[in-house]
Amino acid sequence: MTAFVLDQLDRLTFIREFAHDVSAGLSAEQKQLQPKYFYDRKGSELFEEICRQPEYYLTRAEASILRTYSPYIARVYGSVPSAIIELGSGSSAKTIILLQEFVKVQQRLYYFPIDISHSALQRALMALSDHLPAIKITGLSADYIGGIAKAGQLIAGEQISARMIVLFLGSSIGNFEPGEAESFLGIIAEKLSPGDLVLVGFDLHKNEKVLNAAYNDSAGITARFNLNILDRINRELGGEFETRHFRHFAFYNKNEKRIEMHLMSTCRQNVYIREAGRTFDFDRGETIHTEDSYKYTVRQIGQMAKQCGLKVERHFFDQNRMFDLAMFRKD
Ligand code: AVJ
Repeated sequence: MTAFVLDQLDRLTFIREFAHDVSAGLSAEQKQLQPKYFYDRKGSELFEEICRQPEYYLTRAEASILRTYSPYIARVYGSVPSAIIELGSGSSAKTIILLQEFVKVQQRLYYFPIDISHSALQRALMALSDHLPAIKITGLSADYIGGIAKAGQLIAGEQISARMIVLFLGSSIGNFEPGEAESFLGIIAEKLSPGDLVLVGFDLHKNEKVLNAAYNDSAGITARFNLNILDRINRELGGEFETRHFRHFAFYNKNEKRIEMHLMSTCRQNVYIREAGRTFDFDRGETIHTEDSYKYTVRQIGQMAKQCGLKVERHFFDQNRMFDLAMFRKD
C-alpha cells in the first residue's frame, strides 16, 4: 500500500495570499472573508464536529445515499481501473464507503484526495490505510485548481490509464455562486475524457426552519467554527481580533436561495492586523460575510450540467429527499 501527502502550498506564499485576501475582503463595502480560510487544523476539527450535530442533516443524508448506492455505483462504473480524485476530501469518512465497494470489483484503484488542510489530509490517510490497504493513495494538500492540475500531471506522468471519477461531496459546491459553480464544473469537464464521471453532492431546497437550524446548532459548534477564522487571522497574520466582540450570525436568504454566514461586530471597534499593515474599523452591528451555502433544485442541477457539457447519468437521493448526489458523465 502506498499513501503519502504532497504539499502544494508553500507556507510563505500562502501567508502572503492569505494577508492579501484578508486585506481586500475587510476593505470592501460589505466586509468579507473567503470560506476556504476556515480550514486550519482547528477549523477542520470543528467542521468534523459540525457534521456530527443533530441539526446538520447534510452529512448524514449524503452518507446514507452512499451506503445505499455505493454497491450499485461500483458495479456499474467501477469494473475498469479508476482514478478517483476528490476535491475537499477532509476526513474522507464518507468516501471510504464508496472506496470499499470499488475495491471489491477492481484491484487497480487510485485515490487522490485533495484538501486545503494538510493536517486533515494526513489524518485521513492514516484512517484510509487501515481500512483500504490495497489502494494507491496520493494526498494533495492544495486548493481545488492546484490539486486537480497536480493530480492530472501525476496520472499522465505515471501513465495510469484509468477512468477518472471526480468527487465533489458534501455540498461544498454550495460555496460558489451558481454562475461560478457552473464555470467550475465546466473547467473540470474540460479536463475529462469521454466516459469520465463527476459525482457532486448538492444540498436541496427545503423548509427554512430546517435550513436555519442546520447552521445554528444548539451546541454552538457552527458559531465556534465561524469565529475560528478570526482566531486564525490572529495566529497567522498577527491580527488583534477580540472574538468576544463578534457573534455568529447565520440565516437563510430566501431571495438568493442560500444560507449566509456572517460575523457581527457587537460594538464599534478597530482591529489591527500586522500582516495587512493596517487597522480596520467596524461599526456596531456591521458584519463580515464569511460564507454562502447555496441550495439547489433538481431542475437547476440538470440545467447546470447541460450548460457545461456534462450529461446527468442519475440523481441519487436520500429517503427524505434532503440531498442530491448527482452523477454526471462527460459525453
Ligand atoms: C463544507 C461548505 C458544505 O456550507 O454546509 C457548515 C460548511 N458552514 N456549517 C456547508 C459549513 C457552516 C459546509 N460546506
